[in-house]
Amino acid sequence: MNPADAVPRGHSPADVDLSVTVGTLRLRNPILAASGTFGYGLEFAHLVNLESLGGFVTKGLSKEPIEGAPSPRMCETPSGMLNAVGLQNVGVRTFVSEKLPVLRKIDTAIVVNVFGYTLEEYVEVIRVLEGEDGPAAYELNISCPNVKKGGMQFGSDPAMAAEVVSAARRAAVKRPLWVKLSPLVTDIGLIAKAVVKAGKQDRRAIGSGDQADHLAVGMGNVQDCKCTNPWARGHRDGFRRA
Ligand SMILES: Cc1cc2nc3c(=O)[nH]c(=O)nc-3n(C[C@H](O)[C@H](O)[C@H](O)COP(=O)(O)O)c2cc1C
Repeated sequence: MNPADAVPRGHSPADVDLSVTVGTLRLRNPILAASGTFGYGLEFAHLVNLESLGGFVTKGLSKEPIEGAPSPRMCETPSGMLNAVGLQNVGVRTFVSEKLPVLRKIDTAIVVNVFGYTLEEYVEVIRVLEGEDGPAAYELNISCPNVKKGGMQFGSDPAMAAEVVSAARRAAVKRPLWVKLSPLVTDIGLIAKAVVKAGKQDRRAIGSGDQADHLAVGMGNVQDCKCTNPWARGHRDGFRRA
């Protein structure tokens, strides 16, 4: 059936309420482009009406610009696609000066994905964004290596995950904080609980009742790669199912 036929006579599809909430953030509909798959949104403006989306999550932003991995960055496998972009991004200050002024004019939820290689870098990215209008929420990518802890992923250890969420929560006063968990863990429930507890504690610490539901926790991606391509074997982190 044509979806438009499901709409009662006298109504247009635009009358149907598809809105959803994530924590305290209300989205027009549940379509949210994932971080890294949609650039900074603007690159897709000629292909899709950005205001028809529930929102989009920007490419991950770091304190300083990152050039990313050398090519090839993508590889087809029999059951999906591998990527190794290397977290290429323009850095938070260029984002603020060049991208945000245009993004601000778009009527959709712009969620800014944030990462760092140290706890301080996460906080600094948020600190810079807190001075700006435009973003609807932050999404914390905790799948990053912590260079101060021998490159162990922030999101792979409950204590480290809690620490980065606490610090981010204290910095993110202005808008909701989403935490994107890493699936590369033995017990994701443990990490999720630690993250929720850390977010709650710090909501009390900053003393704002308005922040009560400002933490949303979800999982990033599926990692299930058994491919034999030699390039692919070195880049399992970015496996996507076809
Ligand atoms: C090319 C590419 C770049 C990505 N870059 C980021 C990123 O910068 N930050 C992030 O949190 N996730 C990033 N991701 C992960 C996606 O946001 C998303 O979590 C993942 O693709 C969802 O899983 P699925 O592809 O298996 O559906 C990237 C994914 C792809 C394919």
